[in-house]
Amino acid sequence: MSEYVANAADGAAVAQAVSAFYERHPYPPPLATLDRYRRSWTEDRRRADACLFWPAEPYRDERSILVAGCGTSQAARVALRWPQAQVTGIDVSTTSIEETVKLKRKHRIENLTLRQLAVEQATELGRSFEHIVCTGVLHHLPDPDQGLQALRDVLTPDGAMHLMVYAPYGRAGVYMLQDYCRRLGIGSTASEIRDLAASLRALPPDHPLRPLLRNAPDFRSEAGLADALLHPQDRAYSVPQLFDFLAAAGLEFGRWVRQAPYLPQCGALASSPHRTLLTRLPADQQYAAVELFRGTMVRHSAVVHRRDRPSRDRVSFEGDRWLGYVPVRLPDTVMVHEKLPPGAAAVVLNKGHTYTDIYLPLSAQQKRLFDAIDGKRSIGEIAPRAAQRELAKVLFEGLWWYDQVVFDASLQP
Ligand SMILES: C[S@@+](CC[C@H](N)C(=O)[O-])C[C@H]1O[C@@H](n2cnc3c(N)ncnc32)[C@H](O)[C@@H]1O
Repeated sequence: MSEYVANAADGAAVAQAVSAFYERHPYPPPLATLDRYRRSWTEDRRRADACLFWPAEPYRDERSILVAGCGTSQAARVALRWPQAQVTGIDVSTTSIEETVKLKRKHRIENLTLRQLAVEQATELGRSFEHIVCTGVLHHLPDPDQGLQALRDVLTPDGAMHLMVYAPYGRAGVYMLQDYCRRLGIGSTASEIRDLAASLRALPPDHPLRPLLRNAPDFRSEAGLADALLHPQDRAYSVPQLFDFLAAAGLEFGRWVRQAPYLPQCGALASSPHRTLLTRLPADQQYAAVELFRGTMVRHSAVVHRRDRPSRDRVSFEGDRWLGYVPVRLPDTVMVHEKLPPGAAAVVLNKGHTYTDIYLPLSAQQKRLFDAIDGKRSIGEIAPRAAQRELAKVLFEGLWWYDQVVFDASLQP
């Protein structure tokens, strides 16, 4: 029987269908071990992560963290990543909680508490959290506003949330195939999923789903296919819809987890005739326009704060506070020395970017400053001479736009 609930207004039925879906198709597929993951999280990575969410605060690693809709392994991963933190994982699905309990036992994770609880009921935890991670969850709720509001209610005033929701334009093919499956009454039994996977081989080569089938790791497993194409409840947010979603819950946008794809001054758009028109727009409208121009974003991943948060420190290259910023390299960055554009001594890119036009060429002079980044010295210390200031400003702001560095701005006067 199809698990699709035709009347989306029937919130309880949708919630029930979503929960039943994840009991049968836990996602992501359960992991037997997190050994490699644990090894990959060094102190450097933790510091870069902290600067992403709290650039203005001195480094701390003992924050309280809620992983909301934690799935099969995310809460265990977060607890291993932050061994000094107190981590709480909640999920409606018994299977997800059970899989996480297995990981907790296997890796003797002491700093993780798990509860089978809906995001919408997060206030029942009776406490608040400095950090909330909620990725791939709210777009599956019958009332995402209610879920986000509940998370806002358990976020401390200066807390930071990592929120990921689906984006519509890059998922157009997914929604077409969801509708197709619904029309055929395709459910999510193992044989139905197998038949669906086999039928997708007949999809025309230029169908909007094709690029995702080819490139997105989520579609390589039958579990991923079910999660994408047979989900009983799934909506997506364009940039303006995301900003409205946040505002309705008393939250505000902080930054994109990876910002270069949203910025008109990064990638191919930077050399297009529209760059000036785009950069004249307010930031949120720039993001909205670039989302339309890129046309293929499948998700938005953002750092989000309470609108009433006491501190409003943002990274900014206005004035000269930036001279006190300590640049910290992001872990997924690489430097390339082959096939360079004319005049470049190197090109830096971030492996997390899916768009191939997002790379930053460095001149020999810029490369010397880049190589001097050690996570300890401020920009002013890396480039102490007044004659270097403009070069340093252009370089470090560019590195920040292109997701090469984050800043520890806590040493500001
Ligand atoms: C696509 S998975 C994402 C899991 C995890 N956040 C990650 O990124 O790996 C969605 C998860 O949300 C859970 N979920 C769905 N509705 C929920 C709700 N109302 N409250 C809590 N968890 C929910 C599902 O059980 C599932 O484990």
